[in-house]
Amino acid sequence: MKIAVLGAAGGIGQALSLLLKVQLPAGSELSLYDVAPVVPGVAVDLSHIPTGVKVQGYGKDNLADALTGCDIVLIPAGVPRKPGMDRSDLFNINAGIVKNLVDAIADNCPEACTCIITNPVNTTVAIAAEALKAKGVYNKNKLFGVTTLDVIRSETFVGNLKGLNPANLHVPVIGGHSGTTILPLLSQVKGVEFTAEEVASLTTRIQNAGTEVVTAKAGGGSATLSMGQAAARFCLSLVDAMRGENVVEYTYVETNSDDAAFFAHPVRLGKNGIEEILSYGELSEFEENAKKAMLDGLRADIAMGVEFVKG
Ligand code: 2OP
Repeated sequence: MKIAVLGAAGGIGQALSLLLKVQLPAGSELSLYDVAPVVPGVAVDLSHIPTGVKVQGYGKDNLADALTGCDIVLIPAGVPRKPGMDRSDLFNINAGIVKNLVDAIADNCPEACTCIITNPVNTTVAIAAEALKAKGVYNKNKLFGVTTLDVIRSETFVGNLKGLNPANLHVPVIGGHSGTTILPLLSQVKGVEFTAEEVASLTTRIQNAGTEVVTAKAGGGSATLSMGQAAARFCLSLVDAMRGENVVEYTYVETNSDDAAFFAHPVRLGKNGIEEILSYGELSEFEENAKKAMLDGLRADIAMGVEFVKG
């Protein structure tokens, strides 16, 4: 299995690459690409960790080599938020970065599963889809927006509130990856009861959790370590699935539903990426209202991505 991290020298990229270096199955190859000149150093640094994962660094002129033969490509490249910014404020810079990287995926490893981390994810996934379509290689079963951070945050916050080990909790999160488009389904958490006030305050906290980190980092960026962990979990699930295991993850994918063209669902992963998009089940009245209230915003985020590529 060959896995590329595009933007490997950044905050998310380095955390993600470290977690993959120590957790990918022996025999895997990790291909680290970045425009920052430090990337060969990051690769050498990681290569000293004694695991069976081979690491190779690639600088700005070697994107094609980084991608050739890849099975999975993870894209955390781009700029992060500063205090006061919304994820959509990153659009002007990150849209072009994602488009160029996905064009290179289409040219060099069109069969790879592409996992988008770069914000605004609601929009950059649509950009990636349109870019792949323009190159004639789009496969909707192989394009993912990584929303796993919303899931792990939800599990942590519920665990903390209820005095439970978050590692044993499963909290479904559907929708998108920004503000109110992030919709945790607290009504579906098994074995845990919430009051209406708890549902309202937990939902708001989960939706604003990224901003909590941006504010705490005070100008130093957004979530990198927890995002690295979330993306590593998603990538390792994909690797397990591609090796024949039955795995379900919540992820932002193209759907045929009336909600929006892209929507985070529980997805059964397999050898060829998405095997089946599963239903997210019954929503409570609170969740149904929250979904209805955010759909127009999510659809607009997606339309902006389509417009960016189609012009
Ligand atoms: C977050 O949710 C970086 O979008 C990421 O914090």
